[in-house]
Amino acid sequence: MTRLRDEKTAPRLFRQLVGEIATLLLYEATADLPVQETTVKTPLADAKGAKLAEPVGLVPVLRAGIGMVEAALELMPDAQVWHIGLFRDERTLRPIEYYNKLPSSATVAVCLVLDPMLATGGSAVATIDILKKWGAKRVKYVGIIAAPEGVRALSSAHPDVPIHVGALDERLNEKGYIVPGLGDAGDRQFGTG
Ligand code: PRP
Ligand code: URA
Repeated sequence: MTRLRDEKTAPRLFRQLVGEIATLLLYEATADLPVQETTVKTPLADAKGAKLAEPVGLVPVLRAGIGMVEAALELMPDAQVWHIGLFRDERTLRPIEYYNKLPSSATVAVCLVLDPMLATGGSAVATIDILKKWGAKRVKYVGIIAAPEGVRALSSAHPDVPIHVGALDERLNEKGYIVPGLGDAGDRQFGTG
């Protein structure tokens, strides 16, 4: 997390760190997903095991959420990936939707929303509004850094959605950036700052 925040960290390492932190957070976020028993044959005998009981959807919020998808697919190779595109209007800080290809009804039992930054919470609330309208019954939010304002907004709009983040920072600044934060997560991953 320290290296991720460091302004000297270049995009290549930044992307690697986003993936590593996402893996650690997803370990916790997926711990209670229902599993069903299955049996495999080892070279010696039958062995009881488990597999995910329900289809899982990964919902990266474009752009910055893209960096968390590979890590999530390493853990859940059969998960479906549904992208949602939102950007914040710089003046109002309200999210504007620009990409959504969800089919007409929900195809997964649980959705994991992936977005590194929970700032005002507007993007997370809007994404989860979209998913619930789609028919998602169970949603979890997985982020890397949150501001207290974002956690409050998300838990008040969607109290049923657990929030998994790597750090809870001090505050938002007047431009809606998390302080100390890491700057713009999309720009830092994709070298566009
Ligand atoms: C960032 C981030 C979140 C959003 C968080 O995206 O990835 O989606 O801001 O802010 P909020 O909690 O105040 O809504 P941004 O709008 O900068 O788009 P980008 O990922 O394309 O850079
Ligand atoms: N989006 C970011 O990428 N960083 C912030 O600090 C706030 C919103």
